Amino acid sequence: MSQAARQETASTVDQISARNFERLARYIYDYSGIKMPSSKRTMLEGRLRRRLRTTGHATFDGYCDYLFKDDGLEAESVFLIDAVTTNKTDFFREPRHFDYMTSHVLPEFKSAGVRRIRAWSAACSTGAEPYTMAMVMQRYADEQGGPDYEILGADLSTDVLETALRGVYPNEMLTPVPAEYRHWVMSAKDKTRRESRIHPALRAKLSLARLNLMGDSYAVGEPFDMIMCRNVMIYFDKPTQAKVLKRLCERLKRGGYLFIGHSESITGIELPLVTVANTVFRKT
Ligand SMILES: C[S@@+](CC[C@H](N)C(=O)[O-])C[C@H]1O[C@@H](n2cnc3c(N)ncnc32)[C@H](O)[C@@H]1O
Repeated sequence: MSQAARQETASTVDQISARNFERLARYIYDYSGIKMPSSKRTMLEGRLRRRLRTTGHATFDGYCDYLFKDDGLEAESVFLIDAVTTNKTDFFREPRHFDYMTSHVLPEFKSAGVRRIRAWSAACSTGAEPYTMAMVMQRYADEQGGPDYEILGADLSTDVLETALRGVYPNEMLTPVPAEYRHWVMSAKDKTRRESRIHPALRAKLSLARLNLMGDSYAVGEPFDMIMCRNVMIYFDKPTQAKVLKRLCERLKRGGYLFIGHSESITGIELPLVTVANTVFRKT
């Protein structure tokens, strides 16, 4: 039997042992805040199989021995974390947030004399969220004569940041972009692919960085007028959510806005925020 066939056979029957699952879950939680209950074992196996093949390990035990010995984690951590993060995202996801931005947040900043809005998409995945913010802010600026804006997109996964940087997406993914924003979507350079790209003028407004929300401090520069941190805290437990939300508030200007995912909540966490709309808060 060839080595490839042996590996294939091993990987279809191989499972992560209870001890190694425990070690992986502990590392993933400590590093990223992502909960990994035992019910996620099959999911984790599925996601790590490609890493086994890439690193030349026939079994999960072999992979884990490599990972937790010597400098294995130093070499493999980024790839392990890329494999375990869930990066589902959409353009104009939870569209009421963007309606609220246009109807309340942007007029408020304009009348307060803000010249340049600093916004942060704190778990930006492949970029649909920060590019949606850019479309909304650019349209408002074009129609109302400002304010200008800059956006930081950050995520823990390096894979998704590469996609965000390219700004090229399958056409189906851009379907939710409403007609009034379509001029920011251009056909891709490679005409043989069913892809579109985001207009360079919007791409120029977005800077990207790898940032772990579990980190002790967020090196993100000046405080923000607006932070979107959506659909990432669902993967964290309550104490981690509290820690992350407190740090996000520290990076928000007084009077600045925080948006969280529609299925997320700040209930029971003491924060300098008032609710202004469903899952939208303002720093006091
Ligand atoms: C489900 S996506 C949400 C994307 C976008 N905010 C949205 O709502 O469409 C969650 C993102 O959080 C990122 N993530 C997970 N843990 C993180 C952490 N500790 N620090 C920063 N980003 C993290 C993942 O890599 C993933 O891209």
